[in-house]
Amino acid sequence: MRALAGAAKGARMCGIVGYTGKRQALPFLLDGLRTLEYRGYDSAGVELEADDGELAEVKCRGRVAALAELCSGLPGTQTTGIAHTRWATHGEPSDANAHPHRDCSGRFAVVHNGIIENYQELKAELEGTGHSFKSETDTEIIAHLVEEAFRGPAKGSLETAVGLAAARMQGSWAIACVSSEEPGAIVCARKGSPLVLASTDEGAYAASDVTALSNITSRVINLEEGQLARLEPSGKITVYNADLSVVAEPDGFTIDWDASAATIGGYPDFMAKEIAEQPAAIERLLEGRLGPDGIVLDGLSLPLDEVAAIDRIYIVACGTSWHVGLLARTYIERWANIPCVVECASEFNYEEQLVSDHTLCVIITQSGETADTLASARKMHARGAKVIAITNVLGSTAARESDGVIYVQAGPEIAVASTKAYTAQLVAAALLALFLAKANGSMPLRVVRDHYREMLRIPELIRIVLSRAWQDEVAARAFTDAQSSLFLGRGVSATTAREGALKLKEISYLHAEAYPAGEMKHGPIALVEPGYPVVVVVPESPVRDKTISNLREVDARGACVIALATNGDVRVAQLADYLLLVPPAPEWMSPIVDVVHLQMLARYVALARGCDVDKPRNLAKSVTVE
Ligand code: M6R
Repeated sequence: MRALAGAAKGARMCGIVGYTGKRQALPFLLDGLRTLEYRGYDSAGVELEADDGELAEVKCRGRVAALAELCSGLPGTQTTGIAHTRWATHGEPSDANAHPHRDCSGRFAVVHNGIIENYQELKAELEGTGHSFKSETDTEIIAHLVEEAFRGPAKGSLETAVGLAAARMQGSWAIACVSSEEPGAIVCARKGSPLVLASTDEGAYAASDVTALSNITSRVINLEEGQLARLEPSGKITVYNADLSVVAEPDGFTIDWDASAATIGGYPDFMAKEIAEQPAAIERLLEGRLGPDGIVLDGLSLPLDEVAAIDRIYIVACGTSWHVGLLARTYIERWANIPCVVECASEFNYEEQLVSDHTLCVIITQSGETADTLASARKMHARGAKVIAITNVLGSTAARESDGVIYVQAGPEIAVASTKAYTAQLVAAALLALFLAKANGSMPLRVVRDHYREMLRIPELIRIVLSRAWQDEVAARAFTDAQSSLFLGRGVSATTAREGALKLKEISYLHAEAYPAGEMKHGPIALVEPGYPVVVVVPESPVRDKTISNLREVDARGACVIALATNGDVRVAQLADYLLLVPPAPEWMSPIVDVVHLQMLARYVALARGCDVDKPRNLAKSVTVE
């Protein structure tokens, strides 16, 4: 098992970019911030450094577009700079709280992603020695700590000063720092919040994630827990351990998608693009997965006898990925006969688990950086369990810290609302279940093959659903005057209902409650009044008739019924106000196909309500705070 770094307590969803080299820094910094916008933020800023070390700072509350506007008057000759998008935690979103932050002398400027938990003590101490502060942020103390260390024990070395500052801090951080004392240098540090670096003939780069670097290079260095790095205009990058000894071979990896994958192409928004990309993403994931002995999952690298002995699985995830976990349990319990517990990570971390030598923990995380999910994995590792990750992001913390990984290969997911990662993760979960079932003898190879061949039909079934987007556009009218809505389903479709409700809530700000259809009469049915929108997920399945009974119950009370049903289902068609039709599919597979309608429905409702479907308010793509 790989040794794990200390548990991170949390970090902001902020974005950092940095550049030093031969080119003008500002265009890269602004482009980089634009690519990181999807992470969620409320203010943005940039610090540029001229060859003589003179620093120039521009920052504001609001969008990167507003920052770019403010920067338009700058000469643009600076070739070193750091920039930041801030998602407020300490202090309201404001110009003053936006990063970068400087020390008293104005010679050190810092951008930071993370939370400094002991900042109040440090601030009091610094104020006691004459430092004064301009913002309410925890970040500002870093600049002052660097200033103190630089003129004291660091003896004029920027990396030593940043290292000494980091040694005083508790919490989590990715930091980039520039100083007029060392023109051209950027010093970075990481604990708990990701930071990647790259070197080219043009200079050296830093960013919170690879999307900001993907049109620069395909080879990046991953700054590991506790490490620091010094970037120089020549492109030289020196990585240090916390004690400032040089790391001979920094951890590097290759970005496996091209830059165009993170651009919007001809689509109206990233969500539309990512919904449309689902068939191709799943084809990519399924390709070559059937070998002579069953499902091939190269990244798992667990000894087969250990896999065969697994007798309990904890599946941990957040949000949409937790919904994947609910279905992963169904697949694993049905096919591999291994009891599973599914828990959202924020709850899991404060509960007791039963761990033996044969316990496996499966974390599911699109970004691979969700703080709660990572904390769960670290907890289970510390208890001696093996941990495997289902993730979309190559080289993410989840991937690096796990004993095995299944990359879902969906390509960059930029819209905050997860769509293609959800369906790809479901397919990965099904592959994992088949892999386990074959390994422990629960399923003969012949049946594994049959299931795999069935799965090969998923892309085509999704294409059929995509071609029926008009049905969702029409059904979106049911929500025009709604204040709230209900999503119902039974069995595997209960999870589809949950995911549909989450999508609607997060991008349209319309309340949506998901309930197992049979439970509805124990409470939520009181919500139903004439015109109240109720989405009923009722594809062909063993529980279809039962769900139709529930559909009748809401219909009888005047609900506006939006029914997701299988082609030719006349009974459902007669009861529904709006129909979302899906092609026939095996029951276990139907959630992967059906949810596409609900993604499109949520998008149309959100658009009709004038919402930004890619960047919903208050949300961040990667939730790196506990
Ligand atoms: O990156 P992760 O899969 O760990 O993210 C988990 C959730 O934050 C995420 O699924 C969130 O619920 C999405 N916005 C849902 O669309």
